[in-house]
Amino acid sequence: NKGNYEHYMQKEIHEQPESLTTTMRGRLIRGGSCKAKSVLLGGLKDHLKTIRRSRRIVFVGCGTSYNAALASRPILEELSDVPVTMEVASDLLDRQGPIYREDTAVFVSQSGETADTLNALEYASENGALCVGITNTVGSAIARHTHCGVHINAGAEIGVASTKAYTSQIVVMAMLALAIGGDTISNRARREAIIDGLCDLPNKVREVLKLDAEMKELAKLLIAEQSLLVFGRGYNYATALEGALKVKEVALMHSEGILAGEMKHGPLALVDENLPIVVIATRDACFSKQQSVIQQLHARKGRLIVMCSKGDAASVCPGDSYRVIEVPIVEDCLQPVINIVPLQLLAYHLTVLRGYNVDQPRNLAKSVTTQ
Ligand code: UD1
Ligand code: M6R
Repeated sequence: NKGNYEHYMQKEIHEQPESLTTTMRGRLIRGGSCKAKSVLLGGLKDHLKTIRRSRRIVFVGCGTSYNAALASRPILEELSDVPVTMEVASDLLDRQGPIYREDTAVFVSQSGETADTLNALEYASENGALCVGITNTVGSAIARHTHCGVHINAGAEIGVASTKAYTSQIVVMAMLALAIGGDTISNRARREAIIDGLCDLPNKVREVLKLDAEMKELAKLLIAEQSLLVFGRGYNYATALEGALKVKEVALMHSEGILAGEMKHGPLALVDENLPIVVIATRDACFSKQQSVIQQLHARKGRLIVMCSKGDAASVCPGDSYRVIEVPIVEDCLQPVINIVPLQLLAYHLTVLRGYNVDQPRNLAKSVTTQ
């Protein structure tokens, strides 16, 4: 049921304040003045000790689920003190890459039925790793075959392009980082800031959704383009990959997410006055590096669309040759949840304006159950 919306993708983008609320329901403990704030993930509580003791955490997924894990990697590294590595499921299988008994392998999948992810799970399980699932589908193959896990509880996702599952996956993995990480005096303020940030996140998503009309205008400008680059780094490298994935899969426009730190190692050669480039430059530890990326792209007459934190437009984008997307600021590790929303909206409007099928892009299936 699409309700008042024209497409499932549109409905699922706009219902993210609610889906995120459901994802967090019963899992955040804010406590009174003397009680520490914490998280409770029922499906993991008996396994946290084993996870903390593991030699490595390996994230495994495909497409959007891989990107969600990538967005969560920095906070997991920061809070857990366990090294975190990333595997695209098909590539892990192609290489028969190393997975050991001392590893915790985390399988991220909206459907819980993706063949590559499921085969990687079987492989990791045979190699003796603790296998953890993060899925949206109760009773799915991945939920059944993992040793433990977390349901993201985002509600059914019908559009082939994953939107609300992505943001709920990131929120679950932020909670996973809090659950694995010890509550020490030195990191208490950080933990509390993240928990407060999680509680307020649905409101902030509501706020960023107000950019809908602005994103439609931007889509009108880009309707006839051949290509769109998206530059991100740090927490928002994943946002760049995921924004580009949305644009290519539904709007059928070539788009590439680029790690901004790699700019001078090749991508800079593409920059001219015609190619549109989104640069994500919201406030975090990488902000000043992104400011210098903007200056360098500007010096080469790049057609820039800058995503920055509210209030930063004037300082981040001197001159009037820029388009600006101003987004609300949240705790750095949660910023990917906010920053993807305008790009989801942009991909949606581009698709409608270009006249393509929003909910069932050509050649794609909602869950890829064959290799
Ligand atoms: C569970 C209930 C929820 C109830 C809550 C009350 C289910 C599905 N969930 O939620 O309805 O409101 O207790 O305390 O009945 N699991 C895997 N692999 C996965 C995902 C999950 O093995 O990929 C396992 C978990 O380890 C857990 C079970 O499935 O044993 C349920 O997981 P989850 O729904 O996340 O647990 P709760 O949030 O505690
Ligand atoms: O169901 P899964 O999360 O395992 O699906 C993984 C990918 O097939 C999926 O995210 C795909 O990339 C989406 N169509 C992206 O929108």
